Amino acid sequence: MRFTAYRHMVNVCFTEKEAKAEAEEILVEDGPNEDGMMYQRPGKLADYFPKPFANDAAAAAANNGAIPPDLSYMVLARHGGEDYLYHLLNGYCDPPAGVELGEGQHFNPYFPGGAIGMAPPIYNEIIEYDDGTPATQSQVRERKKTRGSNRIDTLSKYLRGAGIH
Ligand code: HEM
Repeated sequence: MRFTAYRHMVNVCFTEKEAKAEAEEILVEDGPNEDGMMYQRPGKLADYFPKPFANDAAAAAANNGAIPPDLSYMVLARHGGEDYLYHLLNGYCDPPAGVELGEGQHFNPYFPGGAIGMAPPIYNEIIEYDDGTPATQSQVRERKKTRGSNRIDTLSKYLRGAGIH
């Protein structure tokens, strides 16, 4: 999510206060100060999401060789946009007879070729809603859609929590 800043969350999935509180949970390198030293400070709304991996090689090493793509503009980058994302995230199933999956791969008919290096990231009860809405798998994904945005902002919290993308 390298092109997504905390300010992008405001009035999409967080109030300004909530987005500020989220930002403050990370440490950002800033500076130099008057002594010429770089220093760390809590994040601000203008800061971009921290990278989950130091570099592409570290990302591949942690994911069976598949590098998680940047998701900032994924809705615009894939044919079908939000509908593609919805079905990709909800479309995991057993592979049909005769399909062999490599280590760390999962079957998803919505992913080109069917073998995807991402485990199902959303499943029932993955989060708790403040209003008590049952967090079924499709509901988690749908709630994002109905709040509407070309970025997948509402999922950012879980992505960051999962330390991915
Ligand atoms: C809600 C959370 C997540 C969302 C919305 C999400 C979404 C996506 C999307 C849209 C793609 C690209 C599919 C394409 O190229 O068409 C992708 C790929 C990938 N994701 Fe995720 N992801 C999530 C969580 C995770 C997590 C937790 C991991 C790892 C622990 C992960 C690892 C990967 C990997 C390795 C790929 C590349 C797959 C391949 O090329 O085979 N993702 N993800």
